[in-house]
Formats: sequence, C-alpha cells, structure tokens
Amino acid sequence: MTRANMIVLGLLLPVLGFSEWVKVDDFQSYQPDLLPMQANGWMAADAKVSQVTVCADTLAAGNQAARLHRQNETKLGEHDILFQTGALAIELGKTGTVFLRFLIESGLDKSLGSTRGETPVEPIHVKIAVTEQRLHAGNPRVGVLIQGKESVLTGFGKMRTEGKPLPVRRNRWYRLWLVVDNRPADAGGLSKAFLQEEGVSGEPVEVRCAMESSSSYQPGMLTGVGVLKARDNGLTDLFVDDVFVDNRGSNLIDPLKSGSVMGWREKLLEESKQYAHLLKKPDTRDEAEKQAAKLVEAMKPAERFSLVCGDGHLGLPAFMRLGIPGINFTDASSGINNGNGPVGSRHARTVAHPCTLLLAATWNTELAKAYGQAIGEECHSGGTHVLLGPGMNLYRVSAGGRNFEYMGEDPVLTGNLVENYVRGLQSAGTGATLKHFIANEIEFHRRGSNSQMDERTLHEVYMEPFRKGVEAGAFAVMTSYNQLNGEWAGQSRFVNTDLLRDTLGFRGISMTDWISTYDGVKLAQSGTDLEMPGGGALKKDREKVFGTPDIDRMARRIVAACIFAGFYERPQRDERVEKKRPEWEQTATRVNEEGIVLLKNSGALPLARQQAGKKILVAGNFAQRVELGGDGSGHVKGYNLKTYTQTLKEYFADADVSCVEKPEDAQIRSADWVVLFTGFAGEGEGRDTRFVLPDDELITKCTELNPKTVVCVTSGCGVRMEWADKAVAILYVMFGGQSGPAALADVLTGIVNPSGRLPFTIENRIEDSPGFAVLDPKPDKDRPFATDYIGSYVKGEYFASDDKKSYYVHNVQYSEGVFIGHRWYESKKIPVRYPFGFGLGYTAFAYENLKVDVKGQKATVSFTLKNIGKRPGAEVAQVYVSDKVCSVPRPPQELKAFQKIHIEPGNSQRVEIELGSEAFRFWNSATKKWTIEPGEFEIHVGASSADIRLKEAVRVTD
Ligand code: BGC
Repeated sequence: MTRANMIVLGLLLPVLGFSEWVKVDDFQSYQPDLLPMQANGWMAADAKVSQVTVCADTLAAGNQAARLHRQNETKLGEHDILFQTGALAIELGKTGTVFLRFLIESGLDKSLGSTRGETPVEPIHVKIAVTEQRLHAGNPRVGVLIQGKESVLTGFGKMRTEGKPLPVRRNRWYRLWLVVDNRPADAGGLSKAFLQEEGVSGEPVEVRCAMESSSSYQPGMLTGVGVLKARDNGLTDLFVDDVFVDNRGSNLIDPLKSGSVMGWREKLLEESKQYAHLLKKPDTRDEAEKQAAKLVEAMKPAERFSLVCGDGHLGLPAFMRLGIPGINFTDASSGINNGNGPVGSRHARTVAHPCTLLLAATWNTELAKAYGQAIGEECHSGGTHVLLGPGMNLYRVSAGGRNFEYMGEDPVLTGNLVENYVRGLQSAGTGATLKHFIANEIEFHRRGSNSQMDERTLHEVYMEPFRKGVEAGAFAVMTSYNQLNGEWAGQSRFVNTDLLRDTLGFRGISMTDWISTYDGVKLAQSGTDLEMPGGGALKKDREKVFGTPDIDRMARRIVAACIFAGFYERPQRDERVEKKRPEWEQTATRVNEEGIVLLKNSGALPLARQQAGKKILVAGNFAQRVELGGDGSGHVKGYNLKTYTQTLKEYFADADVSCVEKPEDAQIRSADWVVLFTGFAGEGEGRDTRFVLPDDELITKCTELNPKTVVCVTSGCGVRMEWADKAVAILYVMFGGQSGPAALADVLTGIVNPSGRLPFTIENRIEDSPGFAVLDPKPDKDRPFATDYIGSYVKGEYFASDDKKSYYVHNVQYSEGVFIGHRWYESKKIPVRYPFGFGLGYTAFAYENLKVDVKGQKATVSFTLKNIGKRPGAEVAQVYVSDKVCSVPRPPQELKAFQKIHIEPGNSQRVEIELGSEAFRFWNSATKKWTIEPGEFEIHVGASSADIRLKEAVRVTD
C-alpha cells in the first residue's frame, strides 16, 4: 500500500471523537512489561509479537477515565493510574478486539496536545483499543491510552463513519484498519533512523486487525491478523495515525479472506485438531484432570501464565492454537448482572430476580434449586459460562452492605440453600462460584480488613456453607478481600490449600476476588488458581513465578474444571433457551411470594382490594423508586419495571391512591391507610448501612399520626424499629427484583398468603449485636500494607491514613466465636425485635406428637403439623439441636434442619426430618477433627428460634 493510499484510508473513516480526557501525573511506575502478557494466549506465546496485545473491552477503561475526569481527579498519584491502566490491560482479549501498543514520537504529542487542549509530557507509547462492547446499541467505542514518560492520557470516543454512528452488530466480523504513518519526520512521521533504532526494518506498512465477539467465538476465528503482518514486516512498534472500522459491504468480513493473513488461520485450525479429543467432557473428574495435564503440557509457558491471569475483567482467555475457547464470567446475586464489563454485549437485559437473602427467607430448598436453574439457563442463553455467585458469607452484622447478597445468619440454612442453588445452576450448564472464601462479613474498608477468628468458629460456622457448596460440585470458589488471621485470603496457603482443598476436598478453580492479592509468589504457592482480573500480583512478580510448576498446576486446575464442565466442547451460548424467560420470571415471582416476611399484622392485613372512596397515601423514600437490588456486583436491570406506587394504584383501582414521599401531618392524618416504602438508597457493595433508616423519623411520625400505617422495608439489613409497636403491619420485602412490587401487593391483599421467615435476627439496638464491635474499627498502625496496588476507584475500600499515603489493615474480631446471630442473643438472653426464623402468615399451625428416633449418631424427627387457620398456607418447621453437656461452650440451640410444608386449612401432615451426625458434632480444635460427645441432647421443633413448640431429650451414643 502506498503512502497516498494510507492517507486516503485514514480520511475515509475518521473514528476517534475523543470526548473525555484525563491527565495523570507521574506515570513512571507503570511497567510496560505488563503489556505482552495481556495478550490472548496464542499472541502472548509468541515473543516476536510481544508489543501486541489483544483487547476485549476498553469501555470500562473509557468509563473509568470519564468518571475520573468528571470527578476532576486529574491529579492522580501513581497508584491511581495502575487500575486505570489495568482496566485497559485487564480488559484484554475478551471480545477479541485488538489492542496495540505503539511507539510514538514527540511530534504527535504536539498535535494531540493542541487539538485536545492537553499537553502530555513526552508521550512514548500510545495504546489503542477498540471494543465491541454494547454493540447491540450500535455504539462501539474506542479507548485510547497515551502513556508518557511522566504523564498519561486516556480517552474514549464513539466510532463513526462519515459522521454517523457506525451500525455495527453483534457477532459480526469487522475490519479494523490501523494506518501506519510513514510521513517524513519533519511532517510529524517517524524518522527512518528512529525506526531503525527501534529495530524496524523496511518501510512501515498498513496494519490490519480484526475484532470479534468472544461470545461468538468458535475455534477458527482469528484476531490480531494485522499484528502478524506487522510482525512479518519486522515492525515491532508503530506509529498509529488513525483507527477506523470498515463496514462497507457485508458486515461479515472474514479478515482471513482479505488476503493478508498468510494462511495463519488454517495453520492454527490444523494444529488445534490434534487436541480436539482432549477438550471433550469425560465422565469423571479424574479423567478431566488427565486431559488437562496433557493440554497444559502442550501450552507454552506464556500461554499458561496468561491463563492463570484471567482475561479481561470477566473471563478466561481463548487459545486458538489448542482449540480452547474464551470463557465468560458474569456477576450475580439478584440474577445476572448485565451492566458490568463485557457482559453487556452478551446479555442486553436479564431477569431481575429477588436477591439471595430473599431466597433464603423462603426457606425452600426446592425453590433454591429452581432459582439456580433459572439463572443458569439465562446465563446459557447469553453465553455466560460462569456465574460469580452465589454469595454466601454470613449475616453477622446488621449493617453489612452485602447482606442482601448472602443468605442470612445461619450456616445450616445458608448451606442447604447454597447446595440446591448450585445444583440447579449447574444443571443448566453454568458454573457456580462460591464466594467470598472466607470471613468477609462487612464492607467497611473491606480491602483492608483482617478477620480474626478461632479455628472452631471457622469450621463450624463460616466454612459450613462452603462445605455444602463444594459437596454440590461447585465449579469455582472466589476468595475474599480480607485477610484471615493475618494473611490475604487470595494468597493464603492456609485458606486455599489447608481449608479449601485438604479439608473441604475442593477440586475446582479457586479464583481471587477482584484485585485482592499483593504478592505473586505467595499467591502462586497458596493453592489459588486464578488471579482476577488480569493477574496484577502475578505480573508484578512475573520473573519469580513465570514458568514455575506452580503456574503449571494452576493452569491444569483451570483447564480441568473447564473440561469437566463441558465448556470446551460446546458453544455456551444457546439463544433458543431465551424462550424460557416466562418460566424464569415465574420462579422469580414465587421466590418473592414465599420470601416476603410479614413481621407484624394487627389484623389489618390482608387489605381488601375494594377500597372505594378510601384514601391510600403511599409514602417513603422508596415509594417511587425501582429498587431492583443492591448496588455493585449484584446490580440487575430486569424487565417490565414498576414502582411500588404504580403497582398499588393498579391494585387498588377504585381507591384514591396518591404518593407523597415526605407527607405533611395533615396528609398523614387524613389518609385511610398509609403505606410506607422505605430503605437505604444506595445499599450495596463496598459500604455498610447505618441500622437507622433515613426515613426513621418519618415512619415514627406516620405511626403516631395514623394508626393504619403499614411499613414495608426494602433492605437486606435489619433496621431499628422503635416504631414497630405502633405500626399496624410491617413487611420485610428485601430486594424483590422486577416482580417485587406485584408480589408485595399480592401479599398485602391476601392473594398470596405470606410464608417467608426471617433468615436473620432483627435486634432492638445495633449495640446488642455480636458484630457491633467491628463497626468502629481502628487501623492497626503496626501493620500497614503495600500501597503499590491500590487503584483509585477502590480507595475508600482501604483504611487510609489521613494523608492517604499509608494504608492499614484493621482487625475485625470474631470474638463471639460460634455464637453468631440468634445463638448470641439466646445465650446472652438479650431480647430481640424479631427473632431468627420468624414470620407470620394469614393462617396458623399447630405442632403435635413429636417423636425422635435415635440410631447411634443419627436421628429421625417426626411430628404432626396442622393448619388450624382458614386459609391454605405454608409453614417452615425448624429443628434445633441443643447439646446439654459438652466439653466446649455450645450455643443454647443450633438450627440443624428445616422443611417448608404447604397444608390446606383443617388438614394435618406427619412431617419426617432426618438428622445426620453433623447435627450433633462440633469442631475439636485440639484434635482438628469433628467430634461428637455422646450423651444428652435436646431436639427442639418450632416455628422460629424463639417459638419452640415441641421438645424431646435424646441420648446420642458412640
Ligand atoms: C466483588 C465480587 C465480584 C467481583 C467481580 C468484586 O469487587 O467483591 O463479588 O464478583 O468484584 O465483579
């Protein structure tokens, strides 16, 4: 191609409309060496293309740049930029778009500086990335990062053709042209001498690249073809003049047919054939591990390294040479988070399910399975292989910002639900990730906390849900941000090997939480397999870990898990599954109907739908919000969204329903009903709540001025309810997702008889709670930790000194030990507002004739349950075990089993529940084993932890 042609091409389709720029000082600490390893596997493996890297999604980077820019954080320190850079680097490979690193001479600096109104100081590298993100919106973006010796500019712009947005579609090939500048040096081009110095032989040439969507990835597609050409021309560093997408003619341009690829694709396809048999899902994990060993053996060291560093923000890289496709992750907790990273291009919109805390409130294991299956199928429909959930830390502190993402305070309730959730999810061909392992119960400076607990507590309480998830065959486990007893979970051998592998017998992938590890050597030796996202610590210590048996072992585990899950032998995306959406939505509705907890009802509910001439005042800060779920990873978008107010207007069509978020006294007084919808706006990941609702005063006022005030709390956290006695009814609705408001209205009006039970205790005062002490943590000044990896966006998540120069670990003492939740309140005899396991319905149940049949260390508990009310309804029968004499302190009672039973009015049912030996054991720290001390136990059966209806003493023998 002649120079004239190149310039013409460059003019044809101008691309980068930079809208946002950020200037960051002091960029020297940035390690350009990171870049080669960002490449997709087969690229990274080739030293000759070490200047090239394949990029997935720079939108995150672009957004990040824009956000920083908006916040006017233009003076960021060296650590800030690491994430920024990381975002670019991290996002590599996912959608198979091309990311190049180019040398630039200072001439460009002036032109950019003048046109953009910024003056970067001696830029030396330009990195350009094009993303297919949000292509469904026809709105591809280009992210750019210009790295200077002392500064960096980042920005992103929309791709345009002839001034119009580019109608790019998903799953199509496009040709991306990078035009090499060969203008003479005095005209701003690269000088020949300069090129020679850089080892470039011959004239610079056109570079062509192609991008694809990884979700449509099939072995045989190729990215980065232009890179190869560049390499073949001896160009290692290029000056980029412009970037544009050629979408003329068919959108299905196969770059390989464009003549520039030199048969590389065919070569790769040919090569990959020899590994095809190793990609097939075998019957056993042992077999999968053997296949993985062979595949990893065939990988180049750089490919293995690139695998264990993950690919992009949410995924694993593809290795075309071996026929291995890229693997997509998606965030979780209220269904599929489709607004995070490249996921957006896979799932434009997903069902907003109720949060997992609400699932826990159903106490229904079958429903947990259906919920998992619905989400698993939806993942499948959009090409997501791995869901980053379920979250299963425990509700230890009412203020915990992510409580909504977990399943309450009890290890057995959580464990049983997790087990079923995982089975349901994985039955649909989607991998589950149990998170966050371990002891991650608060959000307060979550990346700088050290959870301290004894071994017994660890095994009996916090590991229990993970044990059940592992037993269910979970694909992955995600470690936590915090330290456990002094070491970061993601790089702790104790956590990853002793606990996870040796004690729980986990054989899947152990991945770190996002940017949670600091020492690559420790990490590699800890038993962790995957450092997400992008392998920051591993790359920092690359020289020490690259090519080691540790990396090989990590790679083997990842590959084995993927083979065993069947991810390499079939395309994950199956759009036909999408037709099941009505079923998923029904499941979401059922979870709401069975999970919403009626805490108080002074006879006012159910409300008749006919309220002709009556005034219903809808109030509170959530009355008009569509609060589908908590913020952060658990964020969802959902379908057919309605506010509570809109919904009530529909349900009470003949009433005068009006909404005033903060009503005046007169409005409150004159209403026939006040229905308050309240919560903590912005509850979610990275911050804790305050126990006292922002509407607390308003609620007090309404309950005082109007005796017919119904309060509906939308939160995953317990709240202060000093107004409880005066409210006519209280409902804990948590985050119900898209079907939440309608389900609530069904409960209010009695269309649905509520059967949710609190999966946590609501205390009177936060000071009463066992976790209260951690709410005011002091940093441990003796234990500062490295500041090098602190990204700007997570600053608030670290415990920083006043000058923000040092970061400290703060201790979170689990000093209550195994006395979590109701166990604490019961042992200390502290009265609570609403006990664990509590919830009302519109009918009542009687418990009779308890019989406990003990055989050695197992028991069968049976009793008769009768619906003595007038409506059909469901009861959650709870079985607690009390160890009467034990050599270690034991809680007054521990939940060991439960069953949800639906019974018609007047009918009764004999219920039979099995207790295994787990029901009687405790963790013996001296012997490091589970122990059952034979002797007297008591079996409690009841409707909540505080409402035990039947008791029987039993003897457990050896
Ligand atoms: C969260 C995880 C989440 C991950 C990926 C982290 O900040 O703690 O729960 O899965 O990000 O988005």
